[in-house]
Amino acid sequence: MTQIALAEDLSQSMRNALRRFARSVTVITCRHGGQRYAMAATAVSEVSLDPPSMLVCINQSASIYAPLSSGASEFCINILQSSQENISLLCGGSIKGEARFETGQWLETDSGVPYLRDAQATLFCHMDQSLRYGTHMIFIGRVTRALFDAAVDPLIYVAGKYSRIQSA
Ligand SMILES: Cc1cc2nc3c(=O)[nH]c(=O)nc-3n(C[C@H](O)[C@H](O)[C@H](O)COP(=O)(O)O)c2cc1C
Repeated sequence: MTQIALAEDLSQSMRNALRRFARSVTVITCRHGGQRYAMAATAVSEVSLDPPSMLVCINQSASIYAPLSSGASEFCINILQSSQENISLLCGGSIKGEARFETGQWLETDSGVPYLRDAQATLFCHMDQSLRYGTHMIFIGRVTRALFDAAVDPLIYVAGKYSRIQSA
């Protein structure tokens, strides 16, 4: 492996390292105070299968941060299909609030949390713990249900671009 050490600051070299960290694109959703929230996120991971748990890292400047930190007891992690780049662009850009739900087939759980009917997979989470770390808050959810598509073909974000798995 060729490792290139350039005279650049840590922030830039960390960004460059992370450009090589391919991840599935998700949309985090919740409902609070009668309003629906959605945000594109890749800083998402499983914590454990026992207990079944997931974590999401949310910038405290994001509009979904307030509802998640102040009472939303449920949230969903919608793992996008390779064909759903438009939903990621909508939920991770300048379009705000309810307009983020204008594209996609959105359903709701019994408690009103929106989730995508045709996502690659959806993990339904009950809020369990949170940890503030720098600019972000790490939310840990206990997984209560998981849905998934038969085919494996997630939307991938790598090197600042959307992609898909070649063999899919
Ligand atoms: C592919 C992609 C991945 C992202 N991942 C995250 C993430 O993991 N955590 C985060 O806080 N913001 C992430 N963002 C940025 C937010 O989606 C974006 O800043 C969003 O517009 C913030 O929400 P707001 O406009 O509702 O305030 C990501 C954006 C994109 C396009």
